[in-house]
Amino acid sequence: MVKNPFTPTFGVNPPLLVGRDDLIEEFAASLDDGPGASGRATIYTGARGTGKTVMLNKVQEVAKKNGWLVISETATPGFVNRLAMIHLPSILTDLVDQGKKRISGVTLPFGAGGATWDNPTATTVATNFRSQLELVTDILVEYETGVLITIDEIHYRQIEELREFGATIQHAFRESRNVAFAAAGLPSAVSPVLNDDVLTFLRRAERYNLGRVGLSDVEEAIREPIEKNGRQIDAAACTKAAQATGGYPFLIQLIGQYIWRQHPKEKTITSSDVAEGITAARRRMGSLVYEPALADISSVDRTFLVAMSQDDGPSKMSDICSRLGVSANYGGQYRLRLIEAGMIESTAYGEVDFVQPLLREYLGDRAVSLGGQVVDSTQAQ
Ligand SMILES: Nc1ncnc2c1ncn2[C@@H]1O[C@H](COP(=O)(O)OP(=O)(O)OP(=O)(O)O)[C@@H](O)[C@H]1O
Ligand SMILES: [Mg+2]
Repeated sequence: MVKNPFTPTFGVNPPLLVGRDDLIEEFAASLDDGPGASGRATIYTGARGTGKTVMLNKVQEVAKKNGWLVISETATPGFVNRLAMIHLPSILTDLVDQGKKRISGVTLPFGAGGATWDNPTATTVATNFRSQLELVTDILVEYETGVLITIDEIHYRQIEELREFGATIQHAFRESRNVAFAAAGLPSAVSPVLNDDVLTFLRRAERYNLGRVGLSDVEEAIREPIEKNGRQIDAAACTKAAQATGGYPFLIQLIGQYIWRQHPKEKTITSSDVAEGITAARRRMGSLVYEPALADISSVDRTFLVAMSQDDGPSKMSDICSRLGVSANYGGQYRLRLIEAGMIESTAYGEVDFVQPLLREYLGDRAVSLGGQVVDSTQAQ
């Protein structure tokens, strides 16, 4: 039996990445364009499961193909130190070794494929990030290549370190060093970072919000892995599965996995496999998608979503405000925060809707209305 090709796991590359070609090209062009290209500082934002980590994986791949060196980090405490004391020294050790080989006539370069130092083992040297980056980029001039640093899960909690990081990268850019930087984070965690007075450099970075993927791309992301793995899916069934994802990348994988699972030994995935698969996938979405997403926002914002879930379609802002007993002005602030968090979108003047239609059902099942007051029973934390 063929292995199920779908990957509903955070951070794991999908069998087929769709809808991001433009972004990938933008990034690749920035490497070719040389120091000063704006895409050499790029930030991807998006709600949970929209594919931020996978985008960072992709730009790393692109950089490596171009012979660049890649360092991959997460913005957890101490990340600048890890860059300065582990990643960059490890690269330096390698570069020095390569240089020695070349002197003895064995020659090197990184060539296509590049190299990554995710788990550096070199002995660490007490030093600072800026001097290490300068040393590395000075040597890389010889090889006509550069270094890409990716930082996942950017969060304002790490603002001090991000300032230090940003100042060094900015300095490297000014000196026309071959450095590129790509970061990712939830919009609500990234916004305060971008508004920081000291981090003007990050504000100028290219910022892309990873949203939904178009229906035809979703169909391709479902069909191609199925066919590549020796099975097939009816056209109508594939459309139905794609529609159920709402274009949300994580659901492409989750629904894909469940529709494949129904009758894995059969050649064809039928409409009834899709219907059953969607039902089964829905049962998992609460804990995999909605609970973490709701935990990321404040309890007042959750109450706003619960109030929206009473409507069958888009909600009128005026209705929501009266349900919550708040002024239009106050309601407008919730609205902005939730749009930024990627949870809701504006559908028409004075109207909002869920980005993920199934979230309405999920909240509707959990909200209890007590004496006209909406009580949010999803209260995380
Ligand atoms: N463009 C895409 N096409 C198909 N599948 C995708 C795409 N982008 C992401 N995925 C799949 O969606 C899931 C979530 O991706 P990823 O872990 O990158 O999301 P994320 O935005 O980093 O989430 P989090 O905020 O929780 O870190 C993974 O299973 C991944 O394979
Ligand atoms: Mg991620």
